[in-house]
Amino acid sequence: MGLERLVYESTATGSTNSLGNLAVILAESHRNNARDGLSGALAAHADRYIQAIEGPRAALDALLRRLEDDPRHRDLRLLDRFTTDHRMFEGWTMANARVTPALERLLDTMMARDVPSPSWILMALREAVATAPDIECRRRQAG
Ligand SMILES: Cc1cc2nc3c(=O)[nH]c(=O)nc-3n(C[C@H](O)[C@H](O)[C@H](O)COP(=O)(O)O)c2cc1C
Repeated sequence: MGLERLVYESTATGSTNSLGNLAVILAESHRNNARDGLSGALAAHADRYIQAIEGPRAALDALLRRLEDDPRHRDLRLLDRFTTDHRMFEGWTMANARVTPALERLLDTMMARDVPSPSWILMALREAVATAPDIECRRRQAG
């Protein structure tokens, strides 16, 4: 009930190539999102973050406020937000969407356009999560 999904992009203030930066963000996300009933996927590429998050409306609102105050990125741009009756990232407290060369090309293409298509981004993130070979990229919510 009251399930929503959003997708946003932002500009990283630190390096998105740093595994350390990403690992810290993912660890915080796993901890909080398990508590808040949120699931989703995060991709870091070319100094940009692209993230899909889904769950109860109030939990999404609270997370958006924290994200807007987070100095590790800036210029957060909400690309889409809508109600839904199902989760695309069921069980993933926050999947690390591996940026394969194919996803990289897709993201580059989309980001060069004025209005990136949120549904493309969601599909690309879902695909990257589904095909991620590294168990660390596929850390699932316990239970
Ligand atoms: C790109 C990016 C993605 C993030 N994703 C999440 C997330 O999915 N869930 C979350 O709780 N925090 C996320 N954070 C961290 C939040 O901005 C914030 O620092 C954190 O929720 C505060 O947690 P705390 O109250 O436990 O200190 C993200 C931060 C960045 C920069």
